[in-house]
Amino acid sequence: MTRVEKNAESGKTVCVTGAGGFIGSWLVKLLLSRGYTVHGTVRDLGDSKTSYLRRLDNAADNLKLLNADLLDYDAMAAAIAGCQGVFHVATPVPSEKITDPELQMLGPAVTGTTNVLKAASAANVQRVVVVSSMVAVEINPKDWPHGKIRDESCWSDQEFCRSIESWYPVAKIAAEAAALEYGRETGLDVLTLNPSLVFGPMLQPTVNTSNQFLIYFLKGGPDLIWDKLWHIVDVRDVAEALLLLYEAPGAAGRHICAPHFITARELLALLKSMYPGYPYIAEESIRDMDHPAPMTSGKLEKLGWSCRTMRDTIADAVDFCREAGFLEDAVDGAPCRFPSLLNKV
Ligand SMILES: NC(=O)c1ccc[n+]([C@@H]2O[C@H](COP(=O)([O-])OP(=O)(O)OC[C@H]3O[C@@H](n4cnc5c(N)ncnc54)[C@H](OP(=O)(O)O)[C@@H]3O)[C@@H](O)[C@H]2O)c1
Repeated sequence: MTRVEKNAESGKTVCVTGAGGFIGSWLVKLLLSRGYTVHGTVRDLGDSKTSYLRRLDNAADNLKLLNADLLDYDAMAAAIAGCQGVFHVATPVPSEKITDPELQMLGPAVTGTTNVLKAASAANVQRVVVVSSMVAVEINPKDWPHGKIRDESCWSDQEFCRSIESWYPVAKIAAEAAALEYGRETGLDVLTLNPSLVFGPMLQPTVNTSNQFLIYFLKGGPDLIWDKLWHIVDVRDVAEALLLLYEAPGAAGRHICAPHFITARELLALLKSMYPGYPYIAEESIRDMDHPAPMTSGKLEKLGWSCRTMRDTIADAVDFCREAGFLEDAVDGAPCRFPSLLNKV
């Protein structure tokens, strides 16, 4: 029996949606290193979008890449067929302003998640781990005392997010709620992970939105931002958390993955102390903001999850960006911009 056939029998064949993205690619790398066979979905099988995945250790034998859009049920079902587990990672994370919420965000996030779950049910999958976000936890939660630590029972106010046209949170809240509801209704074992802002080295060749946040701090730019209390986690620790949730027998429900917190002003000061010499955003471009109590990752930690320090995460992310040339001036002279979905004033 080949290893791929053995994996199919032992529950070690899994699907990762959005395999080529920032978090998806680190998860694929981790799964391959732990002996899993991975069906990875991408939207472009061309070399520039997949060569970094095909080069991963064990990829030649144990990684199968399939072209599938979230809105194409049949393509998702074909990718999930033969898998015992699914990691649903794919969701648009646009750095520019969203002009068509349904097309750019809500459709792929919500209908896309339902497609993945239906395909998982059809394939008799044992467990689905869905990547949600801190934005489904911490935005203006209704009836949540200001000073009370935010845990998994805390939900962002979807109507508030809709009223300020903050479409990424609307989509993530709706998608996570739909995923958990689908699990309750059908009996499919559905778990969610709510990562905070994710930093770290990249396997993919282009910069993703959350690392653009860090790059913007170092390079400076014209945007005003709030002095928000940011929670930070390392991409490699997010991948470990996802695998832990898949493998932990008693795991259930939501899991906040937001171990470190720091305000925008404190982050600026920390970066300046670690990496003097960059142009940096101006102090005056950070606007005062009230800070509610932080989130806790205690539930995940109780399952055995641990993580890198914030300083190590920031150092690895900045060192990676510097070596990759992402901190150099833009060739076209265009200013660096703060990703629109991340709390611009
Ligand atoms: N990074 C963070 O700070 C952070 C924090 C909390 C939660 N998350 C969540 O983590 C997940 C991954 O985010 P990321 O940071 O890794 O972003 P990313 O690098 O932009 O990855 C997003 C992935 O989703 C795929 N995708 C987008 N629209 C799709 C569609 N219509 N059909 C199929 N695939 C589609 C993308 O495929 P293409 O490569 O083809 O575009 C890409 O692989 C998302 O669910 C995001 O909401 C991220």
